[in-house]
Amino acid sequence: MKFFVDTADFNEIKDLASTGMVDGVTTNPSLAAKQGMDFKELIGEICKVVSGPVSAEVTASDYETMMKEADVLRKIARNVTIKVPLTPDGLKTCRALTSEGTMVNVTLCFTAGQAILAAKAGATFVSPFVGRLDDLGVNGMQLIEDIVSIYQNYDSFKTQVLVASVRSPQHIVDAARIGADVMTAPPKVIRQLYNHPLTASGLKTFAEDWAKTGQSIL
Ligand code: E4P
Repeated sequence: MKFFVDTADFNEIKDLASTGMVDGVTTNPSLAAKQGMDFKELIGEICKVVSGPVSAEVTASDYETMMKEADVLRKIARNVTIKVPLTPDGLKTCRALTSEGTMVNVTLCFTAGQAILAAKAGATFVSPFVGRLDDLGVNGMQLIEDIVSIYQNYDSFKTQVLVASVRSPQHIVDAARIGADVMTAPPKVIRQLYNHPLTASGLKTFAEDWAKTGQSIL
């Protein structure tokens, strides 16, 4: 399972990238707005520290303008992935871009039917938002299960399921159990994955016992 980090915070991305766990980055206009920095410059900086797909979202809602924006964004670096919304114009843009060899992430997917459309449009990734569905009392992970099983029925569907709106380590484990290709999570949630009280207390005991030996490996 690939791990993408869902943030536009360059320092966070740099820090997590140094762990070797980051396979890509997803940003969105809300995350970018928090940075108070030129968006194109920010994407360029992120692409210097992460070699995998870096999603940069178009902000227009019509096909012609989305294509113009995508053209600017994809010139920033070879790993820029254009993020488009799951709308008729977004999917038309997706089809045009992927046929030109540009990676596309179709975002704001909330139903299996929408995910079928994204696959038919040749999306590289489809982003179903599990957390936002959970917030409405709908089981977001059930959607992931449905999409993964539907895509498995068709060899022609090459779209990778990118689990988005991840809110907890349990979401990541559930997505992996289902067999989702990718998950994108905020830095905080990725860091939470490392933690267990027994790891911390076990480490403390090992350190104390080792100190009693008076030895040093180096
Ligand atoms: C995905 O690409 C989105 O940026 C993101 O996962 C949205 O998450 P949120 O629902 O926590 O805003």
